[in-house]
Amino acid sequence: MVPHAAQKEGQSFDKLRTGGGGAMKLDAPAAANPIDRMRVIGQPVDRVEGPLKTTGQARYAYEAQETAPGAAYGHILGAAIAKGRIVTLDVATARAMPGVLAILTSANAGPIGPRMSLVAPVLGGPEIAHYGQPVAVVVAETLEQAIAATYAIKPEYAVEPGAFDLAAAAPDAPRHEKPGGAAPATLGDFASAFATAPITVDATYSTPDHSHAMIEPQATAALWDGDALTVWTSNQMVAWSVGSLAGALDMPREKLRVIVPWVGGGFGAKLFVHADAVLAALAARAIGRAVKLCYTRAQTFSASTHRPATIQRIRLGATHDGVLTALAHESWCGNLPGGFAEAAMAPTKLIYAAPHRLFAHYLAQLDLPEGHAMRAPGEASGMMALEVAMDELAERLDIDPIELRIRNDTQVDPEHPEKRFSQRELIACLRTGAEHFGWAQRSPLPHARREGRHWLGMGVAAAFRGNLHGKSGARVRIDGDGGVTVFTDMTDIGTGSATIIAQTAAEMMGLEMDQVRVQLGDSRFPAAAGSGGQFGANSATAGVYAACVLLRGAAARQLGFNADAAEFVGGMVRSGNREVPLVQAAGLDVTDAIEFGDVVRKHVQATFGAHFVEVAVDGDTGEVRVRRMLAVCAAGRILNPKTARGQIIGSMTMGLGSALMEEIVVDTRHGVFLNHDLAGYEVPVHADIPEQEVIFLDAPDPYSSPMQAKGVGELGLCGVGAAIANAVYNACGVRLRDYPISADKLVELL
Ligand code: MOS
Repeated sequence: MVPHAAQKEGQSFDKLRTGGGGAMKLDAPAAANPIDRMRVIGQPVDRVEGPLKTTGQARYAYEAQETAPGAAYGHILGAAIAKGRIVTLDVATARAMPGVLAILTSANAGPIGPRMSLVAPVLGGPEIAHYGQPVAVVVAETLEQAIAATYAIKPEYAVEPGAFDLAAAAPDAPRHEKPGGAAPATLGDFASAFATAPITVDATYSTPDHSHAMIEPQATAALWDGDALTVWTSNQMVAWSVGSLAGALDMPREKLRVIVPWVGGGFGAKLFVHADAVLAALAARAIGRAVKLCYTRAQTFSASTHRPATIQRIRLGATHDGVLTALAHESWCGNLPGGFAEAAMAPTKLIYAAPHRLFAHYLAQLDLPEGHAMRAPGEASGMMALEVAMDELAERLDIDPIELRIRNDTQVDPEHPEKRFSQRELIACLRTGAEHFGWAQRSPLPHARREGRHWLGMGVAAAFRGNLHGKSGARVRIDGDGGVTVFTDMTDIGTGSATIIAQTAAEMMGLEMDQVRVQLGDSRFPAAAGSGGQFGANSATAGVYAACVLLRGAAARQLGFNADAAEFVGGMVRSGNREVPLVQAAGLDVTDAIEFGDVVRKHVQATFGAHFVEVAVDGDTGEVRVRRMLAVCAAGRILNPKTARGQIIGSMTMGLGSALMEEIVVDTRHGVFLNHDLAGYEVPVHADIPEQEVIFLDAPDPYSSPMQAKGVGELGLCGVGAAIANAVYNACGVRLRDYPISADKLVELL
């Protein structure tokens, strides 16, 4: 624990600075600093943009007013085949339709460079990489005209056979190196340890393709001014998208401005630059006007990315006492050639001790729309398998599943025992949750509690997700009214970034929340880590902290204080018995950034949790209703318990979807995603969500940043699906290892 209000401010915290300009560098654990006062930080502050969003005033990319007069509308035509070639693409009829201004295809769009991280070409033709790959964009005076003309384009295709079935492709899939982390992938002698273990589990699980299903689809408005381009787009990572889009358009970064206004969710779909941004820019250049281009819901399935399906085999060998001696996790997934591989075994490498270990990863080539990161890539899928296997092992051992996890806890990286976890509260999360949830009332035997035609059961799973960092900058200015404005390219994708950034500046400068203004999401502002990998909250606020440290020093000096002794409180700067209003330093305007040195790699850094679920299974229909959910999380200092809780209950909801309903259905004959709207791709609605409770353990981590925070946005998802699967088993005695656990599958087995 860190000292709070008692410590003398200003004495040690800016020693973080390496001196001589450049960014603040975290190369030692955080010392006491003004954030520790927790006067604003750590409070359940309402979202600063809440009123804007609930009254419909928050602007999203497609609504950019700067392009309002004279913007034209684009609409994308996607390939109607999954693999093959376009033989003819005649756009003459469409071009002659009312309002049509231009039609771009691979024949006239010019070369398009590769985008970062993605492998599918933005515009297909003549070769088609996957179903739904954009093959034309029609630009017209109105959206309706663009859509109508798109329907008039009827390409002729030559279809070629493709690979669309992961289960069929898996046996021949080549091994993919780097199975979710650094080597070694194997340790000890797994084969003999498993063969001689008295109690074993050998089970195979599968997870289907998932859609991010965020509310706002990919959307961009693009406007050229000579050779300079501005895009308003819905993206999680501003600085990264500038590089990616500049590469695709083969233009200098300096000529490109990316503005990300409010974002209606992303979940990883918007880590990347998609066709909407590239094609809006090309179309706007072609017609010399602003162009707006938005995906349809169907295009968010087929022309974006999705979480790829996995097949996972887990083998556990244990002593009669429940100590793991052998642990293997092998995973198969598929993607376009050269594409991303879902590292489902990543969490297994770190969560439990076992001397003999084997991890392998196989990546099949599939001709489906591109797979990539979705909320907690690796862990989310991996924990859905591992944490069920642990439940199966507990049953075979006749040991309580919580006790089994406690017996196999490790405080060091099992592959690199010299590396400890900076913080690891998995056991505390499990114990706290057990107590709070009433775990003692669970029957260890399945099929034991009945209520009418419903079987009741409880399940538990561990939650685990890494803690990553990214360099983050911010500019902070003291305004004429004595408040401050923070500028950073950080995005708020619905997570609360703007709010915790304002809290950070308020805490550092001794101001109230309503005295802080936050401007986000513009590539003209200092680059932050962006919203991804649950690193945004800690990294971006640490960047604001760094800028505020610099601003405090500048303000103190300007107002005649010893910078090390000055306190900032209640809009005043004070030291001894002298105090001066901060407003007297109005106009001061500084920029700084934080970099994360080796100290963040000295330990393993991760976030932990435990999920508890109670379900009722209808014995006649196989319908599963979740009745209660509890998550206990340890994820550094919680900067705002209200926004953090929102992240966790959102992830628990997503986890319920992945356990019980979410599945992109692949037509394995034609390579088409059959369900591509929110009627056919089922996600939980309010009526599916029961009582949800979240408990945060107080766990500031000085190795993470001066904020001592970590991320929570992905942690909450990891393990939920397994906890539900385990509860279903406990209720009705059926172990369904093929997600989702839908009523049609379950009823067959009841
Ligand atoms: Mo996350 S899948 O890095 O948005």
